[in-house]
Formats: sequence, structure tokens, C-alpha cells
Amino acid sequence: MLSLLKTSVLVFLLAAVANSTPIEKKHDKYIAYPIEHSEFSSIGKRYESESFDGTGANYNIKLKIGSNKQEVSVLIDTGSWSLNFPGVDAKCHGGKCAAGTTFDPSESTTFRNLSIFSRSLYGGGGAVQVSGFKSTDDFYLDDGKKLPDFEFNLLNATYYPRGIFGIGYSTDANVSYIAATKKAGYINNAGFSIYTGSDLKGTFLLGGVDKAKYEGELALYDTHLAIPGKSITTSNGTVLPFPSVLALDTGNVGLTLDPTIVDQIFKEVRDEKGKVSCDIALAGNKSFTFDLGQGIKINVPYSDVFYWNSGKTACNARITKTGHHGATQNVGVPLLKHTFLTNNYETGKLGVAPVRYTDESDIVDFWF
Ligand SMILES: *[C@@H]1O[C@H](CO)[C@@H](O)[C@H](O)[C@H]1NC(C)=O
Ligand SMILES: *[C@@H]1O[C@H](CO)[C@@H](O)[C@H](O)[C@H]1NC(C)=O
Ligand SMILES: *[C@@H]1O[C@H](CO)[C@@H](O)[C@H](O)[C@H]1NC(C)=O
Ligand SMILES: *[C@@H]1O[C@H](CO)[C@@H](O)[C@H](O)[C@H]1NC(C)=O
Ligand SMILES: *[C@@H]1O[C@H](CO)[C@@H](O)[C@H](O)[C@H]1NC(C)=O
Repeated sequence: MLSLLKTSVLVFLLAAVANSTPIEKKHDKYIAYPIEHSEFSSIGKRYESESFDGTGANYNIKLKIGSNKQEVSVLIDTGSWSLNFPGVDAKCHGGKCAAGTTFDPSESTTFRNLSIFSRSLYGGGGAVQVSGFKSTDDFYLDDGKKLPDFEFNLLNATYYPRGIFGIGYSTDANVSYIAATKKAGYINNAGFSIYTGSDLKGTFLLGGVDKAKYEGELALYDTHLAIPGKSITTSNGTVLPFPSVLALDTGNVGLTLDPTIVDQIFKEVRDEKGKVSCDIALAGNKSFTFDLGQGIKINVPYSDVFYWNSGKTACNARITKTGHHGATQNVGVPLLKHTFLTNNYETGKLGVAPVRYTDESDIVDFWF
């Protein structure tokens, strides 16, 4: 009798403990890099003709490289697949590279030159070149963890003002930072999330999704980069269907859209002389609405696309045409700065939603 009573009390206590203990363990296996949304000047990726005063912005983060943990600022690019950055003596766009963008291999005892020359081409038509030698070194995370012998190109010449951190889909842990951090056991799922706040600062997350940072539910697509968007609506209500998929490319400072769409957008902002007019484009808080399907609509102010040159004599636009009607469109920062973008490389699912501006944070592991 007594022993039975004891047993049932014990069972009761165990049940109470089980109920009050959270079932879900808090997710802490992620890596977070702060994004610096720096201004991009004339030498913008894929924007050779953009003037110096253009306020095109880009997503940059700092990587810690080598035995002495040198901080090197690189541009996050969802549209390419490898990492490169300039060496100390490299030429950036023909001149000296800016402080904080270069790596000095002589100061790292773990640097290894693989002595394989590599030239990469970027931009539509591959007109833009960077060159250097394949190399490896150790990379450090903020908590001191080390990613050993990760491969990159140490550049001697680049068209761009800094290195390019290609995070496009790749399962090769030798060259994909995302695959490498998974292989090292620092994250559970090889995938990333990227978003910026209203102050244009944001976070690049490896191995996690911050559920507080977007509105509503994520729209999920079975794709690594390009999504079947529905349409773009201009400020005067013209609905222009997308004839082809949209590649979401953080390395593009502008929007590369179908010629039929670009012609109509420009038509609506021309003055009586036929010139694109910032007086028209920037008046009255105009915005585009991107309908990405699955109920996802993202507003992009005209002021993220149209801007005056320095003398206020000409109106510039961060919009270009694809090579031909029906070619893949490539949408960059003007859309992505308003978008929460996440991609799980293990399931091949990509998620988007309008970004939510908040200081709250709720980082979870990939569930899709
Ligand atoms: C890497 O090796 C190549 C070929 O041997 C050489 O030309 C280059 O200067 C080396 N780079 C560095 C940083 O040592
Ligand atoms: C970069 O290195 C390659 C191979 O050594 C060389 O042909 C090229 O001239 C170099 N570029 C610059 C700007 O030094
Ligand atoms: C990765 O690097 C290792 C060591 O250098 C090499 O054995 C392996 O073949 C490489 N893997 C790929 C996919 O290139
Ligand atoms: C929008 O502008 C274009 C070009 O000026 C014009 O053809 C079209 O009718 C306008 N649409 C509306 C709804 O005002
Ligand atoms: C401009 O338009 C956006 C949405 O289209 C809206 O959220 C914002 O409040 C408007 N701003 C002003 C100053 O009217």
C-alpha cells in the first residue's frame, strides 16, 4: 500500500516535471554576421556606367582570416559561388584598394598559396574580371571557432572595390563557406538568411532563420536562386506580368528586368522632351509593387531606383534591360533591401517575405 502510494506520487512528480520543461531546445547553432550596407560608387557590380554619386548600396560583411585574424570586408553575392578578395598589393579598379578590404598573406603563418592562377568573370556577358591565385587559410568565427584551410582566390587585380563572397548554391565544402561551416559541425543545416533593417544595417545568418524579422509567412519555392514572380505594378497602376523568372542577386545594385517592363516603367516617368525625369519619378511618394506569388507583395519606393546625378542635371535609374525578351531577370538591392531572403541548400527550398523592421529576434533552425 505504502509503496504503491510512493510510486504514484513519484509518477505524478515526473509528469509535472515533463510538462513544465520546454520540449523545444533553444536554437543556438547558427553564425551571425552584421551586414554593413555600404554605399557603392561608380564601380558598382554590373553597373559600369553608374555615376560616382549614385547611392547604390551593397551588403558587406567582415571575415576574419589567417593566424592573426585579419578583418577583410567582402560583398555578399548570392549570384556567384566562390570567395575572393584582394591581396595588399592588388589593384582595385586600376588603383589602390581601400583600407579594410585587403589581406596580407605575409602576416599569417597558416596561409598557403596553391599557385593555381584563376580568372573569374562577373556581370551580364562576363565583361568584368577579377584575377588571382587559389589559396587557403584558416577562417575564424566570432566565438574563436576555426574553419581550417578554406579556399579562396587571393586577387592581384579586381574591377571591384572589394572582394566578393559568393554564397550561391554549392555543396563543395572546399569552396562554399556555408557547406564548410556545416561540415565543421558549427551549423545543423547548410543554409542562410539575409535581411536588413530600416537603418540599412542587417544580419547574414548561417544555419538559422530569424522568424521575428519578416511579415506573415514565408513563401517557399523549390529553387536555389530564381523564383517565378508574378508581376510588377507601377505607381500609376499598370500591372506588368513577368515573362521569366527572377534571380535574387544581392550582388546586383539594381534591377535587370525584361525590356517590355523597362520600356513601360520609363514611359511613365518621361517629361515632355522624352527624358527620364526625377521630378516626375520622385514626386508623390511613388512605389512599385512586386507580386512574387503565394500572396507575397513587396513595395519598392521609386527613390530606391531613381536618383539625381551630382549636378542635378540628369536623372539616373538603377534599372537595366535583360539581353532579350524572356531572358532570366536579375533583381538586386532595390528589391532585396525590403525582402527577407532565406535558402536551405539541403532541401533546396528558398523562402521570401516582406522584411519586418524590429529589434526583436527569434532565431530557429530550418524547418523547411
Ligand atoms: C602565389 O604563387 C604564384 C605562382 O607561383 C605567384 O606568382 C604569386 O606571387 C604567389 N602569391 C603570393 C601571395 O605568394
Ligand atoms: C595578375 O597576375 C597575372 C598572372 O601572374 C598577371 O598576368 C597580371 O598582369 C597581374 N595583374 C596585375 C594588375 O598585376
Ligand atoms: C577538397 O580538398 C581536398 C583536399 O585538398 C581534396 O582532396 C578534395 O578532392 C577536394 N574536393 C573537391 C570537391 O574539390
Ligand atoms: C500609366 O502611364 C502610362 C504611360 O504614361 C499610360 O499609358 C497609362 O495609361 C497610365 N495608367 C494609368 C492607370 O494611369
Ligand atoms: C509612402 O508610401 C509607403 C507605401 O507605399 C508608405 O508606407 C509610406 O507611409 C508613404 N510615406 C509618405 C511620406 O507618405
